[in-house]
Amino acid sequence: MTRPRKIIIDTDPGQDDAVAILLALASPELEVLGITAVAGNVPLTLTQKNARIVCELAGRPDLRVFAGCDRPIARPLVTAEHVHGKTGLDGPVMADPVMPLQPGHAVDFLIETLRAEAAHTVTLCPLGPLTNIATALTRAPDIAGRIQQIVLMGGAYFEVGNITPAAEFNIYVDPEAAATVFGAGVPLVVMPLDVTHKALTNRARVEAFRALGTEPGRMVAEWTDFFERFDMAKYGSEGAPLHDPCVIAYLLRPDLFRGRHINVEIETQSDLTRGMTVADWWGVTTRPANALFMGDIEAGGFFDLLTERIARL
Ligand code: BDR
Ligand code: CA
Repeated sequence: MTRPRKIIIDTDPGQDDAVAILLALASPELEVLGITAVAGNVPLTLTQKNARIVCELAGRPDLRVFAGCDRPIARPLVTAEHVHGKTGLDGPVMADPVMPLQPGHAVDFLIETLRAEAAHTVTLCPLGPLTNIATALTRAPDIAGRIQQIVLMGGAYFEVGNITPAAEFNIYVDPEAAATVFGAGVPLVVMPLDVTHKALTNRARVEAFRALGTEPGRMVAEWTDFFERFDMAKYGSEGAPLHDPCVIAYLLRPDLFRGRHINVEIETQSDLTRGMTVADWWGVTTRPANALFMGDIEAGGFFDLLTERIARL
């Protein structure tokens, strides 16, 4: 087997972040070098704790979890308890983690790891606001040329927005950070709402997780049961989008996704459209492509992969 691909997961768990972390930890093709927590769905004190809860659930208390930025670069924090509940991982009752939080700052860990590992061998997987990643790129511009790829969940084009009519949550919370990341010249793969709104749970898919009969399977079913109620009421859909696992699934099965290499710019000025990902899907400008912006997913294959991998934990 080829060597596992090295990744760092930057995250604000979040039930869908938690499923993404489980998917990564269940996959031998990936080596998770560490997890960096950021403020987003809930404040940092909870996201770093939730990340450790998920590592323990996966039987990986040895993993290093770092706390990062506790607020966006230039704005007050906006959170999403209305979706994820007060803890960020509402649904099942879960015990506090025993494994320690690492003493260092997540941004230092990102910089040090990217400098220590061979160039182009570490992929970053941001699943929340891009504050940690942008802060690292600003403080240590040399790391941009060392990152293999950034595969992130954020933005939207045809689906437009979920936190405002114009913006997706992760980009909206820290648009200045997103502008830095999209302008950094790093190979970028973007999983926008256009993809994740097709990665919808339904009864059969949730029951398949529960039927695994394992603790991780039960947790995934109970988390999705919890946040489904919000999305079903909002979109009238059969289930809820599993946004963040799309990032990890792309690393395992890129063939499940379709997208275009296009230019994507971030709106940071307008009050009305702050955090909008202005994606040149139709190629109507001469602005250079800076991202592989995904538009479609083969949802059946995605859920089969997810279920098969969660079963291994
Ligand atoms: C994104 O926002 C969060 O609520 C989810 O965890 C996901 O990363 C979807 O807009
Ligand atoms: Ca997230």
